[in-house]
Amino acid sequence: MALEILILAAGQGKRMRSRLPKVLHPLGGRPLLAHVIETARALGPVKIFVVHGHGAEQVREAFRSQNIEWVLQAEQRGTAHAVMQAMSRVSADADVLLLYGDVPLVRVATLKRLLQAAGDGLALLTADLDDPAAYGRVVRDGAGHVKRVVETRDATPEERTIREINAGFYALSARRLAAWLKRIDNRNAQKEYYLTDLVGLAVGEGTPVTAVKAEAPSEVAGVNSKSELAQLERHYQKLVAEKLLESGVTLADPARIDVRGELVCGADVSIDVNCVFLGRVELGDDVRVGANCILRNVKVAAGTEVLPFCHLEDSAIGERCRLGPYARLRPGTELAEDVHIGNFVEVKASRLGAGAKANHLTYLGDTDVGARVNVGAGTITCNYDGVAKHRTVIEDDCFIGSDATLVAPVRIARGSYIGAGSTINEDTPPGQLTIARARQVSIPSWKPPVKKKG
Ligand code: UD1
Ligand code: CA
Repeated sequence: MALEILILAAGQGKRMRSRLPKVLHPLGGRPLLAHVIETARALGPVKIFVVHGHGAEQVREAFRSQNIEWVLQAEQRGTAHAVMQAMSRVSADADVLLLYGDVPLVRVATLKRLLQAAGDGLALLTADLDDPAAYGRVVRDGAGHVKRVVETRDATPEERTIREINAGFYALSARRLAAWLKRIDNRNAQKEYYLTDLVGLAVGEGTPVTAVKAEAPSEVAGVNSKSELAQLERHYQKLVAEKLLESGVTLADPARIDVRGELVCGADVSIDVNCVFLGRVELGDDVRVGANCILRNVKVAAGTEVLPFCHLEDSAIGERCRLGPYARLRPGTELAEDVHIGNFVEVKASRLGAGAKANHLTYLGDTDVGARVNVGAGTITCNYDGVAKHRTVIEDDCFIGSDATLVAPVRIARGSYIGAGSTINEDTPPGQLTIARARQVSIPSWKPPVKKKG
């Protein structure tokens, strides 16, 4: 039968103490809600409804490119009230899965079990927690059958000792859901319409209720505070690190890597401690990344070594390059193979040809550097005239002496040598030495300054 999934994401998340809607807080670099939507998609539903309310525009904007049925819950009056807002758009003959936007790590396999268990009745996802905290408790009768779910605030001291909690996810038919929603009221501690009442209503009617237990407590962990978010982030990073290790990546310490996006690694990649990967990062075979590097949206080809403390962003790096320590590649950098970028070198919107080297203290902005060029220490491309940016071209086999300033637009022709300390603002001829600096003079009559007494 056709599956339709509803994700509840309208709450403000008061306990987050933030202006950002709760479901947009990032876990592993992506909004909490993005994780839930991705999991939902994997189940192949006909439709995904997201009930949103708090920060509605911001939430919609964050998922603009996705095919989602948005349902507005202008006033948040409880989890059942949220579902009620969507019912007019849910197909009457659909199977329905209800998920929460703030419970991001539930697994596809677990939800498949939940859907299967529902049959013609109701299935709810539960878990045994050592610390059931503020979760709703699953109350069972003497024979072990699920009787109802009670919120912590409404629970008796005895019920509070129950360790089996309600994850808040349910599978059932749209037909049953619609019927039961009509009977849910808000007579409880929070004066809210509780979705948890579905359980009591099903039991009351004699409809089969099946509790499906999640394998790991983290699958049902909801994010309600910054503290819970931080804990879940650590857990998520641990899962990512384990996957990397399984695929053959060497991690100096799996507890000290942060992947906030997607990290794709070839064979025999090794990553030292405290590296952060953002967006989509691809590391080719045998790539080594030193300690304390930050890589955002970069592609690093096979055999390249990134030494410690590099910051690389929106760049493509060729094979067998050597970067750093302390190198910075800014957006639009393309390095061919065997390029060396050394300490305190910044490169922006520039291409460097095969075997080019800039090893020390240099700025290359809006520059095309040919093959085998050697850029001396302290070289600066002056790409900005206060109004516009201009390009510098350094053709193949040039040698740029230390401390040269190349004032763009300017072209250094093939095989040129530039004398150290030169300021070059005109194109140079190929294969010649060009020097542009004041001639050195010594003043024989010069006397060192004398300190005045008193
Ligand atoms: C809920 C359950 C509790 C369960 C827990 C699991 C109820 C009454 N309680 O409690 O049994 O153990 O989840 O995490 O269902 N939301 C809306 N509109 C609303 C209210 C909530 O869309 O009017 C959304 C929230 O954005 C959130 C989700 O529903 O994504 C859960 O709401 P929340 O207020 O966090 O419920 P809990 O108190 O955690
Ligand atoms: Ca919650």
